[in-house]
Amino acid sequence: IVIVLDFGGQYNQLIARRVRECGVYCEVKPYTTPVAELKAMAPIGVIFTGGPGSVYDPNSPQADPEIFRMGVPILGICYGCQLLAHNLGGRVTAAQADSAREYGKTETFFDTGCKLFRGLPDTGISWMSHGDYMEKVPEGFSLVAHSDACPNVAICDEARGFYGVQFHPEVNHTENGAGMIRNFLYEVCRAKGDWTMEDYLKTSVAAIREKVGTGKVLLALSGGVDSSVCAALLAEAIGEQLTCVFVDHGLMRKDEGDEVEAAFGKWAMNFVRVDAETRFLLKLAGVSEPEHKRKIIGEEFIRVFEEEAGKIGKVDFLAQGTIYPDVIESGAGDAAVIKSHHNVGGLPDYVDFKEIIEPLRLLFKDEVRQLGRELGLPEYLVMRQPFPGPGLAIRVIGDLTKEKLDTLRDADAIYREEIAAAGLDKSINQYFAVLTNTRSVGVMGDGRTYDYTLALRAVTTSDFMTADWARIPYDVLDRISTRIVNEVKGINRIVYDVTSKPPATIEWE
Ligand code: XMP
Repeated sequence: IVIVLDFGGQYNQLIARRVRECGVYCEVKPYTTPVAELKAMAPIGVIFTGGPGSVYDPNSPQADPEIFRMGVPILGICYGCQLLAHNLGGRVTAAQADSAREYGKTETFFDTGCKLFRGLPDTGISWMSHGDYMEKVPEGFSLVAHSDACPNVAICDEARGFYGVQFHPEVNHTENGAGMIRNFLYEVCRAKGDWTMEDYLKTSVAAIREKVGTGKVLLALSGGVDSSVCAALLAEAIGEQLTCVFVDHGLMRKDEGDEVEAAFGKWAMNFVRVDAETRFLLKLAGVSEPEHKRKIIGEEFIRVFEEEAGKIGKVDFLAQGTIYPDVIESGAGDAAVIKSHHNVGGLPDYVDFKEIIEPLRLLFKDEVRQLGRELGLPEYLVMRQPFPGPGLAIRVIGDLTKEKLDTLRDADAIYREEIAAAGLDKSINQYFAVLTNTRSVGVMGDGRTYDYTLALRAVTTSDFMTADWARIPYDVLDRISTRIVNEVKGINRIVYDVTSKPPATIEWE
């Protein structure tokens, strides 16, 4: 294992991800973790992350000096590099000249004699973001990279296996950054790089069996990627000791409920599908305000789940499909809290259980997908695009009826089919149809129609916080439009949403 010691940098997740991409297992630990605990993990290497502080500020996060005596190689990144220098006898100060402060892309010259840069080009762009400057390099270290503005961009003490870089090798803007991390892992830490998802699956199955023993586990399955993979992993590990409750609120896409149910057919667990369409639609009748819809759906969901859990009785564990970015975003690390994620920390008080179990807690999204494949889940589940909890209720604008939902389901299915047929389903991050509340006049055959307008939405985004509308080729839009107006009753006009987020949001409600 490699430990990524978190000093509050923005890119910590990325560091962890790069390490795992090299086939090396790693975990991110807060810098406050006692050294004894780190030692007990028997790491083959430690990476210090960046951070917003200045090492000479006594209130900034500091490393326990004992860590330098563990006999384990260390790579310090940005703040982490300055920590190395500061602790091992160097001197770090605020850069006096503006020129020594560096932000952004900087041309950098590397000494390829150093293990960190071995086999890589000796010049390249690196991504800098530091206002502090290593004025004096500690004893035993040599300078192994420089830029025009800064003589000491990287330092190393090969004898002790200590390396420090002022830039961020984990970001894509740094040319060959991944190669440097790979060199640290393979050349310095002597990592084998043989960690695979298959290993992870075996280890987690064993760990779940040990933790759960003969206990009972309950999981609310939404059909989304995380809860599905979580369910499959638990089913693989403990079979009948697992009960999955899948609440079908009637607001899912076409055939989705059946697809989810079919995907879990091969495991001997208790799969409870609750057909709650009527109850949800009854509660939602006449409601048109989006937040009100959300609230009703959220509350009703809890009620249904609660009733089912009541039938099962006391369970030992409640399983949740929390994944690693949720953990980090909720401020478990030292990075600034961006948002508090609903999956983490909020224990439902309506189910009688002893403990929460979160078997995906250490995985990134793409690793979760890979694990899902390893478990034999079908590709359409593993690669599913995000789908909001309130489902189609927030994609039928205004008040809901089963008829409107069915119309939208048919149109949306055609849209998705054509996007996939055009090979665009991998490059567009989210796409769906919206049944607007607008009706307009059309002509079909010799008759006048007065039917609904359907909006098509498609966005490209990496974080769903901001998004751009996808440039779907006209001919693809044309095919989608022609098919929908011909095949779906009740729709006579199609529009394409060409707004980015902000100012619009991805969903219409
Ligand atoms: P917006 O519309 O805010 O959506 O740009 C950003 C992402 O969040 C999803 N979304 C939701 N997911 N419950 C959810 O679980 C909700 O109420 C909800 N509203 C929006 C949306 O699909 C997009 O991926």
